[in-house]
Amino acid sequence: MLKGKNIILGISGGIAAFKTASLARLLVKAGANVQVVMTPNAREFITPVTMSAITGRPVISDFFSANSGEWHSHVDLGLWADALVIAPATASTIAKLAIGVADNMLITTYLSSKKGTPIYIAPAMDLDMMAHPSTQHNLDLLRSYGNYIIEPRSGELASHLVGKGRMEEPENIFDFIMRDVRYGIRRDLKGKKVLITAGPTIEKIDPVRYISNFSSGRMGYEIAEEAARRGAEVTLVSGPVNIKVKNAVIRVVDVQTAEEMFAACNAESADYDVAILAAAVADYRPTEVLEKKIKREASEEHPVVRLTKNHDIALALGESKSADQILVGFALETDNERKNAIDKIQRKNFDAIVLNSLADKGAGFATVTNKVTIIDRKGEEKAYELKSKSDVANDIIDYISNKFLSD
Ligand code: CTP
Repeated sequence: MLKGKNIILGISGGIAAFKTASLARLLVKAGANVQVVMTPNAREFITPVTMSAITGRPVISDFFSANSGEWHSHVDLGLWADALVIAPATASTIAKLAIGVADNMLITTYLSSKKGTPIYIAPAMDLDMMAHPSTQHNLDLLRSYGNYIIEPRSGELASHLVGKGRMEEPENIFDFIMRDVRYGIRRDLKGKKVLITAGPTIEKIDPVRYISNFSSGRMGYEIAEEAARRGAEVTLVSGPVNIKVKNAVIRVVDVQTAEEMFAACNAESADYDVAILAAAVADYRPTEVLEKKIKREASEEHPVVRLTKNHDIALALGESKSADQILVGFALETDNERKNAIDKIQRKNFDAIVLNSLADKGAGFATVTNKVTIIDRKGEEKAYELKSKSDVANDIIDYISNKFLSD
């Protein structure tokens, strides 16, 4: 994926510098030419020998080579780079980047980068330093120049290693960069609030048993990642799944039952610009949840679980929707697909529906791929090929952005 791409990996002096070795490895494995540029302080945290062994290139740190006196040209480096990743970026490096204090190779290289070169900055520092208005102001400045700041999720524990202020995990930084490479650098959802539902819901029968479905949540999570990458403020209301969110911008609201999902979505209903309902919500719940486990011996030959209808979240959002809110549903049909999908657009007041057919091999539940058709209110269809769910997510967001969000 990154074959032939030249990436400068800038490291400044923070404890998180040890994590940059893994990031370098991921980039090299993806085929990139990685040139490490370290600030003088960074060498106290990770040795240039480690970094050059991983990248296969001598690390650049000083303006001159101590042995040969050879001049390291930051201008050439800046021109060479297809992307610049600075991880970790300390408070001091962030301040220097923001106002252009060119006192080391990393800052001069940054200042010499070609116009339009994507620049990713992963801050890492003590919590208080991160929260300080100076740092926040400098980060805002960097954002305003078009740099992308990759912040970690704020943790519950206020420690500099686990809380806000620690560096984002290398896998997540890598994932973000790879999405930009794959789908192009687009931030067309900037300022938009996007609500996404994902996963199954589970409806308890007794303390150990429940009714649920095969939804893995993958489709909804991929849509959330894609919307976040494009600059949206994302709320992901998720049933129980085995997936972790990669982009820290995404706010996850964990729920178990359809009624909890309904309440969580209602809380957001006035606030979203776009809602995408990818969850496989259970239509029914057991009328009674037994307090004790049903015993085999005690139960009748044909025990009956009575069911009660859950709220239709889509229907409620469709009813409360204002003229400028966009509501997109999913439909998983086994028969009469088109007709059922179009009926659902009408009934639930969707602007569009993403139809996946269980008849298509590799589409739908519990797969890594999907094949969808998007239908709008006028019945116009757009059919897509069988693709990875991440590619399908990109198609869906493209569709929404082009059709509903471009002026
Ligand atoms: N949906 C929802 N809340 C429900 C049921 C469905 O928000 N209680 C949403 C799904 O997330 C999806 C859309 O509605 O975006 C269609 O879901 P589907 O299960 O196909 O629709 P149903 O109304 O349940 O119709 P049926 O099961 O009869 O096909």
